[in-house]
Amino acid sequence: MPGPWSGQKTKSEGMTLSFWTRRKSIDAIVAGHDGHQLKKTLSWPHLVALGVGAIVGTGIYTLTGIGAGLAGPGVILSFLIAGAVCACAALCYAELSTMIPASGSAYTYSYVAMGEPVAWFVGWSLILEYTLVCAAVAVGWSAHATGLFRMIGTPEALLAGPHMGGLVNLPAVIISFAVAGLLALGTRESATVNMVLVAVKIIALLVFVVLCIPAFDASHFTPFMPQGFAATPDANGIKVGVMAAASLIFFAFYGFDAVSTAAEETKNPKRDLTIGIVGSMAVCTLIYMVVAAVSIGASRTEVFSKSEAPLVFILESLSHPKVAQLVALAAVIALPTVILAFMYGQSRIFFVMARDGLLPKSLAKVNAKTGTPVLMTLLTGALSALISGWLSLKDIAELANAGTLAAFIAVGLSVIILRVRDPGRPRVFSTPVWPVVASGAILGCLYLFSSLPTTTQLYFLYAHCLGAVVYVAFGLHNSALARAERT
Ligand code: ALA
Repeated sequence: MPGPWSGQKTKSEGMTLSFWTRRKSIDAIVAGHDGHQLKKTLSWPHLVALGVGAIVGTGIYTLTGIGAGLAGPGVILSFLIAGAVCACAALCYAELSTMIPASGSAYTYSYVAMGEPVAWFVGWSLILEYTLVCAAVAVGWSAHATGLFRMIGTPEALLAGPHMGGLVNLPAVIISFAVAGLLALGTRESATVNMVLVAVKIIALLVFVVLCIPAFDASHFTPFMPQGFAATPDANGIKVGVMAAASLIFFAFYGFDAVSTAAEETKNPKRDLTIGIVGSMAVCTLIYMVVAAVSIGASRTEVFSKSEAPLVFILESLSHPKVAQLVALAAVIALPTVILAFMYGQSRIFFVMARDGLLPKSLAKVNAKTGTPVLMTLLTGALSALISGWLSLKDIAELANAGTLAAFIAVGLSVIILRVRDPGRPRVFSTPVWPVVASGAILGCLYLFSSLPTTTQLYFLYAHCLGAVVYVAFGLHNSALARAERT
C-alpha cells in the first residue's frame, strides 16, 4: 500500500484504496483544468495593491491597541515576528498556487500533498478562519462606526456585546448581514474600487503618523518589554508578552493569498509574484511598525491599549478631533472590503469542498439569477453576525488565527513533501531557499500557535472534534475519490 510520501502512481486519477492515503494528483487536476487561460494583464504594482488591499484592516486599526496592552512597546517586535512568519508562508503559497492550478488554496494543496483527512482538517480550519475573520473585522468596523450610530440615537446597550457590559454589538451584526447581502446579490470587488479603498486606508494611516510625530516622546519606550518576550500567563491567567501579542497581531497580516491566487494573470510570475508578495508584506510590515512606533511615542501603551479604536483615540488625545473622525470614517468605508474578500473566499472554499464530495452540494448551490451561492453566503453572514454581536474581538481574532496557522503549516509541509516527491515538476515560481523558507513558515506558525491562549487552543481542538464527526458522518463515504474507488 503506497503511503502519502511514497510518490507511487496509484489508480486512475491518482487515488489509493485507503482513505488515509486517498489524495488528488496534480496531473488529474491539470487534466481537469478547462485550459481556459486568464489574460496576463497584471504586473507587480497591481499585485502589491491587491495584497495591501486585502491585508490592511482591523488588525492595524484595532488590534494594535490590544497587542500593545499585552506586550507594551515591544509590540513593535510582535509586528516584525508575525510579518516574517507570514512572508515565509506567502512565498510557499506562491509556489503551490502556480504549480497546482486549482481553487481551494491550502485545502487543495494539502489534498495533493498529504491526502484527504489532512485536506479535510485544513478545509475545516479555513472555514473556521474565514467565518471568524468576517466576525472580527465586523467588530473592528463597529468600534469605528459607533460615533455614527450614536448620532442616530442608538442606545449604548446596543453598541457593545455582553463582555463590554452591553446587550449586543448591533453595528457588527448589521455590517455582517449587509456585506453578505451585497455578496449574495453578486457584488464583486472591482480593481478600481480596490485601488481607491487601498488609498483611503493608507492615506488615513499616513495622516495619523504625520500628526503623531510632533508628540513623539522616546521615554514611552521604556520599559520596552514590561511583560517579557515569551507568552506567559499573568496574575489573571491571561498570556502576555511579545509573543502573546505576535500571536494576536498575526491577524493583521493575512489576506495575502489574494496575491498568490492572481498568479495566472501575471505577466512575469517569477518577478511579479516575488515582488508582489514580498513587497506587499514588506509594505504592510513597515507601515504597521511605523504606526505602532508613533502610537507608542504619542501615547503610553497602557493608555491607548484600553481603546477599541486606538488610532482614533490617540488623535483625539492629541487634540485633533476632526482628523480623528476622518480616520474613523476611512475605517468605516474601507474595512467592509476585507469582510467582502473573506466571505467570498469562504464561498469558494465551500464550493470546492462540496464539489469534492466532502460537504453537501446543496449548501454550495449557485443561484441561477445572481450566479452566487446565496444559501452559503447568508449562512456565513448569519454566523458572523452571531459571533461578532456577542463575543470579544480578541477571542474571535485569536481563534481565527489558530485556523490560519494550521493552514499555513499545511502549506509549508506541502511545499516540502512535493519538492521531495515530485522534484522534476516545473515550478513557475520557486520558493527561494525553500528548505529554509518552508521550515521557517512551519516552525514560526507552530511557535505562534503555542503562544495563543490555552482556551483558544482548546476551542480549536473542539472545533476539529466536531469537524472529525462531520467527516466521518459525511465526507468519508461521499467524497468523490471514495465514490470513484467503489466503482
Ligand atoms: N489582515 C486583515 C485585517 O487585519 C484580516 O483585517
